[in-house]
Amino acid sequence: MKSTPIDQLTEAQARAEHQKLGDEIAAHDRRYYQEDAPTVSDADYDALRRRYDEIEQAFPQLRSADSLSRKVGSAPSQKFGKVKHAVPMLSLGNVFSDEEVHEFVGRVKRFLGLKDDAPLAFTSEPKIDGLSCSLRYERGELVQAATRGDGFEGEDVTANVRTIREIPHRLKGEAPAVFEARGEVYMNRADFAKLNEAQAEAGRMIYANPRNSAAGSLRQIDANVTAQRPLRFFAYAWGEVSDLPAKTQGGMLDFLHRAGFKTNPLTRVCRNAEQMIAHYREIEEKRSSLGYDIDGIVYKVDDLALQDRLGFVSRAPRWAVAHKFPAERARTVLRDIEIQVGRTGALTPVARLEPVTVGGVVVQNATLHNADEIERKDIRIGDTVVIQRAGDVIPQVVEVVLEKRPRAGLPKYEFPTKCPVCGSAVVQEKDEKGAMDVVRRCTGGLTCPAQAIERLKHFCSRLAMDIEGLGDRQIELFYEKGLVRQPADIFTLQKRMERGEFDLREWEGFGETSVRNLFASIEQRRRIPVNRFVYALGIRRIGETNARRLARHFGTFDALRACARKATEGSEQRAEINDIDGVGDVVAEAVADFFLEDHNETAIDALLREVQPLPMEEVASDSPVAGKTIVFTGSLERLTRDEAKAQADRFGAKVSGSVSKKTDLVVAGPGAGSKLTKAQELGIEVISEDEWFRRTGQG
Ligand code: IVH
Repeated sequence: MKSTPIDQLTEAQARAEHQKLGDEIAAHDRRYYQEDAPTVSDADYDALRRRYDEIEQAFPQLRSADSLSRKVGSAPSQKFGKVKHAVPMLSLGNVFSDEEVHEFVGRVKRFLGLKDDAPLAFTSEPKIDGLSCSLRYERGELVQAATRGDGFEGEDVTANVRTIREIPHRLKGEAPAVFEARGEVYMNRADFAKLNEAQAEAGRMIYANPRNSAAGSLRQIDANVTAQRPLRFFAYAWGEVSDLPAKTQGGMLDFLHRAGFKTNPLTRVCRNAEQMIAHYREIEEKRSSLGYDIDGIVYKVDDLALQDRLGFVSRAPRWAVAHKFPAERARTVLRDIEIQVGRTGALTPVARLEPVTVGGVVVQNATLHNADEIERKDIRIGDTVVIQRAGDVIPQVVEVVLEKRPRAGLPKYEFPTKCPVCGSAVVQEKDEKGAMDVVRRCTGGLTCPAQAIERLKHFCSRLAMDIEGLGDRQIELFYEKGLVRQPADIFTLQKRMERGEFDLREWEGFGETSVRNLFASIEQRRRIPVNRFVYALGIRRIGETNARRLARHFGTFDALRACARKATEGSEQRAEINDIDGVGDVVAEAVADFFLEDHNETAIDALLREVQPLPMEEVASDSPVAGKTIVFTGSLERLTRDEAKAQADRFGAKVSGSVSKKTDLVVAGPGAGSKLTKAQELGIEVISEDEWFRRTGQG
């Protein structure tokens, strides 16, 4: 709907619209700040807010005491204790165009009585898309952490914040007696995607984007849950400070950095609007490759004395402004909804789209999450939909453009009640708390080809059996041709070929050499650490960590199996699994369920005739790195981090994320920083990636 230009509104119309917008914005604020579940994009929200402010500017009489322009965010929720901010945590005004940046600079200069061409420095900082937090340090010790809340009063999240590794418990060096550091708690895109995967697998809430995920993770009643979440922090501001350690914004950022905080490395000092705009463009280009979400650039007058003179207007400082990026959204037509069946039978709807460019990337597929999401958004095949690259990783369908739905209508989408691959019934299970799980699952188990193929892929994957040459494509092909239906079949391939049952060398894409290499890499995996073996089985809820826990506890696969087979509900065996550190009810039940299933037992028997799981302590005890604690740092060129970890594991070494006296060896790649320095300080041996390959006998 096109809105009436402000100057054509009558006062009555203005009052009505102002009221309506106010209600709407307040509802969005509540969803955003209290429920961590917004229903509009930032751009749409900004547009509402803008119109609201413009109406108020034209009709100042509408500006009552409870006007939203006097508030920031919304009242703190009831879950946490309240904290009054000694210095309010205010918000920022937004600009969207180059012209408005020039206007901002002009406005600041006029206010300060400077000439238009007088030099004036601004910091130009990425605007991190997370949630702001105020951290109070007294005599250098972290004593309290609070969210922004309504800007005046926030929530006490001290216990949760203490679990964030990037937030120091004690400031480094000399610090003022009272120092409130402020900044953004956020989540990396990759960490967000991983978390959502785990959430989906466990049937728990899926977060819409990294920001909601960070907010939801920080505002957990149980700080132990927060501790499991990969939260990060960038410092960029401060609240109450007994003695300012610097005279400029840039100097304060340096201080924050010295005190032990991360500050954003892309921050620059600019001397005029042109430089600010150039920096904005440069960051906009880099935006999708940063690894975390930013939604604009914040320009701040560098000189703190000038900031003081400029002061605030209602809810925002006069000395700063946010230059927002356009939202990465686009409209396109939903051609079809395809259902993918995962390893554990979870059905995931995927949108097949008319290709469209979103933020410079062509998008053809988008996630629809689950049946409930489709239902809630009433998404129908043939609809025009809004696509957003959430966290710039997995595109998602935000909403339907209802005006574009054909007049004759479209049939409502019916989520399948039978597995589209094997035809088995689809069920909706209850989650841990007895509530209906959002995930629908195929009940076909291994009789469902999709599940069987996904399990085989998992079995061969890098962190599991790590069989080189058996990628997704080969597995699909072997399954289709009936050569490999269960894990054990992989190990009999060569024998069967030698018996003349088939000849892989004649298949397209397989030559003499590749077949020889494939068989060689299969042979290498006949002996495998038990933890990897357990992980490879693809038991529900048994990721790498849980597999390790089980392996460590039981020592051998036979011991684990013997216990798990008897682990019916209420049994002593169930309690034993349940009691393993880090394993709980839900995991114990999943383990028991797996081993109580006949077809899994048969598959395991067949597999054990081919593969020997090695007790964990025996793992490569002859390797020169066995039993050592290793830290990988800097950028590795031949290995991904996952691979490095898997290799260390294979050679019996333990990987740690930080360097301490307990570290035995540091493998450093280019760009290694503080960990390398620390290793050198502690006199720990540092080697290159190539040397790592040599030492572990990999050439
Ligand atoms: S300065 C008084 N700097 O943006 C000004 N804010 O819309 C205080 N934000 O509440 C804010 N990155 O959550 C500032 N480099 C940055 C920022 C930043 C992200 C967030 C912050 C703030 C919101 C304002």
